[in-house]
Amino acid sequence: MTLHGDAYLKCIDPKCGLEYPIKSTNVQCEKGHLLDVKYKNKPSEKLKDVFAHRGIMDEGIIFNESGVWRFRELLNFCEIDTENIDECSNFLVSLDGAEGRQSKPYHMTRASAFIGTSSDNLWLQPEGYNPSGSFKDNGMASAVTHAKMIGAKKIVCASTGNTSASAGMFAANEGIQCDVYIPAGQIAPGKLSQAYQFGAQIVEVNGNFDDALKQSLDDAKNHDGYTVNSLNPFRIEGQKTIPYRALEYLKWASPDWIVYPGGALGNTSSCGKALMELYEWGWISKVPRIAVINSEGASTLSDLYNGKFQGEELRWNKGKPNTELIAEYYAYLDKEGIRPKTKATAIQIGRPVNILKGLRALDFTDGVVTSVSDAEMLDGMSVVGLNGFDCEMASGASVVGIKKLLEDEIIKKDDVVVGILTGRQKDAMLPVDYHNNPENKFAIPPKI
Ligand code: F0G
Repeated sequence: MTLHGDAYLKCIDPKCGLEYPIKSTNVQCEKGHLLDVKYKNKPSEKLKDVFAHRGIMDEGIIFNESGVWRFRELLNFCEIDTENIDECSNFLVSLDGAEGRQSKPYHMTRASAFIGTSSDNLWLQPEGYNPSGSFKDNGMASAVTHAKMIGAKKIVCASTGNTSASAGMFAANEGIQCDVYIPAGQIAPGKLSQAYQFGAQIVEVNGNFDDALKQSLDDAKNHDGYTVNSLNPFRIEGQKTIPYRALEYLKWASPDWIVYPGGALGNTSSCGKALMELYEWGWISKVPRIAVINSEGASTLSDLYNGKFQGEELRWNKGKPNTELIAEYYAYLDKEGIRPKTKATAIQIGRPVNILKGLRALDFTDGVVTSVSDAEMLDGMSVVGLNGFDCEMASGASVVGIKKLLEDEIIKKDDVVVGILTGRQKDAMLPVDYHNNPENKFAIPPKI
């Protein structure tokens, strides 16, 4: 069934509420607010069975193998006949079905022992086995699909590394140009080399990610580029499939918690949107709580949400969040010369561009935010390795964040928790350095 006129864009600010056609090229509303992709029709719950059979029954159809496009009815902004595979091929961007294909939640006994919970209650979902090595491929498949749909010739992003790797990969595969703005000297070597390998045009910015994003947005506007950072609402659509896969694996019985590292807050936003929609459609009866884990060195959301700045706890507040408080916090960082600083460079972000969608997600899910140290994240990363799974330092935040929230009795002993491991190791020397220091908790130093 083709549903033309079903999908459109809507500003998230209830006061503004501007709407745009789905083929609009703006990633923000004309007043600079974030946009949502909206669908007029409610998908039938019978699709749960369709999803379960795709990939098993239909070998060779890449859109059924893909962990993103397997759920294409729930992100059908192309308004295509989703059963028509020729139509899928004409519209949907996929790396041969590999995006999201390998991702599902696992029990990891060494991690649950470290965290202090029963193995049955803890699930960790590695997104690092995506084709470019991070969760970004989920959202990049959908963002580049929209870029192609509107005829964009060039995609543009700023990145702490994984976005640029993913954007470069899809752009090369689709034969479109890709410019990536990176904070010079501040991204992991394995990520930088991917952007070069995929033939992206690197633009080195003398500053941090926040500076690189600003420059990339200006350049995209002035030179007809299509921005694929997570402020693009079509990125959020593809990333909804991360919780879809977790929920499907748990037979659509909601866990108590879904836990993410927090950077620009695209993941928090997409998980929130996925849960809001599933709940509204009656596909889930319980809403999992979202926990966001910041690095202590880049803790904007944690500081503001927990009232560590001027004593006010920043909230969505029915669509009227105190944006002045956010502006004052940024002014304070600038005045004091405080720059985000963490070895987990993926989440070294001071100005999370999706903060308002993040607050909305936390409001809907009764979420919590906390922060963890670099040493803790390294332990989290390392204990995942002891289970035979790869992940990067920022992903370690999910593991130690769960541990911390359990110790603080915010997560209860019997709660079922899904932690997202956002990316695989691309900073080759981090595990080497970790294991060569016998003082580290999980270190296995080399024999001499
Ligand atoms: N984990 C990893 C491995 C990441 O690469 C990122 C973000 C995050 C977590 C944070 O996710 O932004 O959705 O809150 N990396 C971006 C990049 C910013 O440019 O690769 P978020």
